[in-house]
Amino acid sequence: MSSARQTMSEYEAIPQMDLAAQYAVIGGEIREAVTRVLASQQFVLGKEGLALESEIAGLCGVRHGIGVASGTDALILALRAVGVGAGDEVILPPFTFVATGSAVSALGAKPVFADIDPATFNICSGEIARRITPKTRAILVVHLYGLAADMDSIRAVAKSRGIPVVEDNAQAIGASYKGTPAGALGDVACISFYPTKNLGAYGDAGMIVTSSPEMDVRLRSLRNHGQASRYNSVEPGWNSRLDELQAAILRVKLRHLREWEQARRAHAAEYARLLAPVKSVKTPQTPQGCAHVFHQYTIRAARRNELQKFLSDRKIGNAVYYPVPLHLQPIYASLGTAIGSFPESERAAEEVVSLPMFPELKLEQIQRTAGTIAEFYGI
Ligand SMILES: Cc1ncc(COP(=O)(O)O)c(C=O)c1O
Repeated sequence: MSSARQTMSEYEAIPQMDLAAQYAVIGGEIREAVTRVLASQQFVLGKEGLALESEIAGLCGVRHGIGVASGTDALILALRAVGVGAGDEVILPPFTFVATGSAVSALGAKPVFADIDPATFNICSGEIARRITPKTRAILVVHLYGLAADMDSIRAVAKSRGIPVVEDNAQAIGASYKGTPAGALGDVACISFYPTKNLGAYGDAGMIVTSSPEMDVRLRSLRNHGQASRYNSVEPGWNSRLDELQAAILRVKLRHLREWEQARRAHAAEYARLLAPVKSVKTPQTPQGCAHVFHQYTIRAARRNELQKFLSDRKIGNAVYYPVPLHLQPIYASLGTAIGSFPESERAAEEVVSLPMFPELKLEQIQRTAGTIAEFYGI
């Protein structure tokens, strides 16, 4: 790899993710969709939203989609729809974005953390089983980085105790587990369309998907002031509606999602091939039967912080998702959880770094990133 080395000034920056590259390809289609909505002058709860709901439900292999204002709102409303309220406990992994935990807290419920499987970064069923109490009202599973959690064992634990499973599917739209799409692996699932997600809006947006007709009806009401029909509010709700502009933009992007996923998988395969000789790095593994969508391409790396600096100095984008597990963040200081309580989450937080990953990433960019990592470790 040494022949590819250059002086720093010769390097062009490689972003960790690049939305502009995507817009350069689909800009025309997007502008057409936006113009269509502007011409209709219907901005909230219209036909674009309805069409997107059914298209996303189809992608996830479930009957219903309920568009909401963000992934965070999707979590809050879905947890509420499965019966979580003040004083209940919800089991979730500490190695996730804070929204997973703050959605639980927003309902006055208590987050109960369960450590991750170091091989997948996802919540471990054995850890869940140990944390169940009579107050456990839901198990909140995150499919981190685009890989579904081990749902057979998680569902078995949940079923044996009669506890609903909520999927935080913010990062894994399009992924599957043993042939079942993420989104159809629990009782209800929450999607984020935050702009950087594999399917990202041009602002905040989210969706809840479920096959339960009762939950569909309840969630449609909850996202719209608890109205069962117009001016007939039956319980306290929210204003959390997905708007027509975002829905129309997402429908354009949805048409490209499979081809983007394939590109992400090809990039991941190339990284894995090039990084195989670098023993100080552990590349992500995809368990048998899973289709990973590589929202992030996240490696474990020895001397991670030094490697990050080495990459950044050479203008190679990189990011740590997530440097502080939830149980060690100030928001949960009152739980009094000691350092060392969730060793796998804590170790992951110290070792992970996500490399450039987006569909339009070029082979030379992957080669330079992998080559620079090899150079750092003296290979
Ligand atoms: C795992 C996870 N959960 C929840 C969220 C919250 O989604 P949003 O930003 O759309 O509210 C995100 C993304 O930001 C996420 O990555």
